[in-house]
Amino acid sequence: MNVAIPREIEDSERRVAAIPETVDKMVQGGMSVEVESGAGNHAHFSDSEYEKAGAKIVKDPAALYLNADIVLKVQRPLMSGGVHEVEMMKPHAILISLLAPLTYTDLIQKLSARGITSFAVDLMPRITRAQRMDILSSMSSIAGYKAVLLAASAHSRLIPMMTTSAGTYPPAKVLVLGAGVAGLQAIATAKRMGATVEVFDTRPAVKEQVQSLGATFVELDLNGETEDKGGYAKELSADAHKKEMVLIAQHARQADIIITTALIPGKEAPLLIPREIVSEMKKGSVIVDMAVEQGGNCGFSRMGETVVEHGITIIGATNLPATVPVIASQMYARNLWNFLSLIYQNKALKIDRADEIIKATLVTREKEIVNEAVKAAVLKRGR
Ligand code: NAI
Repeated sequence: MNVAIPREIEDSERRVAAIPETVDKMVQGGMSVEVESGAGNHAHFSDSEYEKAGAKIVKDPAALYLNADIVLKVQRPLMSGGVHEVEMMKPHAILISLLAPLTYTDLIQKLSARGITSFAVDLMPRITRAQRMDILSSMSSIAGYKAVLLAASAHSRLIPMMTTSAGTYPPAKVLVLGAGVAGLQAIATAKRMGATVEVFDTRPAVKEQVQSLGATFVELDLNGETEDKGGYAKELSADAHKKEMVLIAQHARQADIIITTALIPGKEAPLLIPREIVSEMKKGSVIVDMAVEQGGNCGFSRMGETVVEHGITIIGATNLPATVPVIASQMYARNLWNFLSLIYQNKALKIDRADEIIKATLVTREKEIVNEAVKAAVLKRGR
């Protein structure tokens, strides 16, 4: 079984899908590994470190893809020098990557047309057995931390309380909306920096975790179920959403920094800070909208951009994990190795479609699109 690790070609991407440690594990497990020259450069893993771990370094990406039974990637395949990376893969190969398959349905059609078996690791179920493979969680933790750093440096005041020769200055007020993985890390980071932190989430179940981090949980009785059986947030009724917006507006007007992370899986991000509330915030404050790729929690957010409106800086940064490429690559590669160990056991490929993790992540099995939600999204786009 030959595994290929290409150099990522997406502009903002600085991570790599395998590190020398995981290459070593693959080789010990009976795989041969080829790494494109320079694949680990941004994350400071050199070609010679990969070679020492047992990989062969390949300069030409076309040769790398042509030889691969399994391709490990971070970003979905893209056009590279006039050729699409999918076209470089040999039919029947396996691709394991982030794919955002509900969004990039054209890519999924391309993969099935080529007969590629593809796994979208961004569809990993959040179940106990899959925890070691949960790439979205490890990446969200990094992003939550980095979002607070971005806010701190764009903000026009201080974060911690400071007593100086010119008097005492109070700590910044940080409001975090959504206390999932990214939100909890943002809370912890803001607390470590000395901020006063308030948090709102529609799931009362997170109250204890928020309080254990030293933050204040803003409570609202939403009269009804706000969580599904899997523990994820449910969409609110129009009435409950209105109630929530009133409460958030009261706290937003007092905040120096707002970090928004509110998301319901598979849905557009809920609008929590409309434009008129931004205009009522304290001048010089900052909003980091982490949900910008799903449409955003703030009415002014623009994907990949920083805008200033009414004296408020609104940051719509994407791919924050790639700004921390060493640790993000280590986490990504280790999560990916744990997943690979599920489908490659005792030197043989084992794709058990009855397995809950395989069922959730398998998107195409050669020519067939097997994930029902993705199949529906492809059909919808085709209409
Ligand atoms: P998660 O699913 O763990 O957390 C989302 C939280 O939002 C949940 O606790 C949920 O209860 C809460 N929520 C849902 N609707 C709400 C509402 N109406 N009001 C208040 N809270 C609500 O998701 P995770 O992994 O923490 O990711 C959060 C966001 O960050 C996502 O949009 C994700 O795409 C984004 N993200 C952005 C990155 C970047 O580089 N910009 C990197 C990683 C994640």
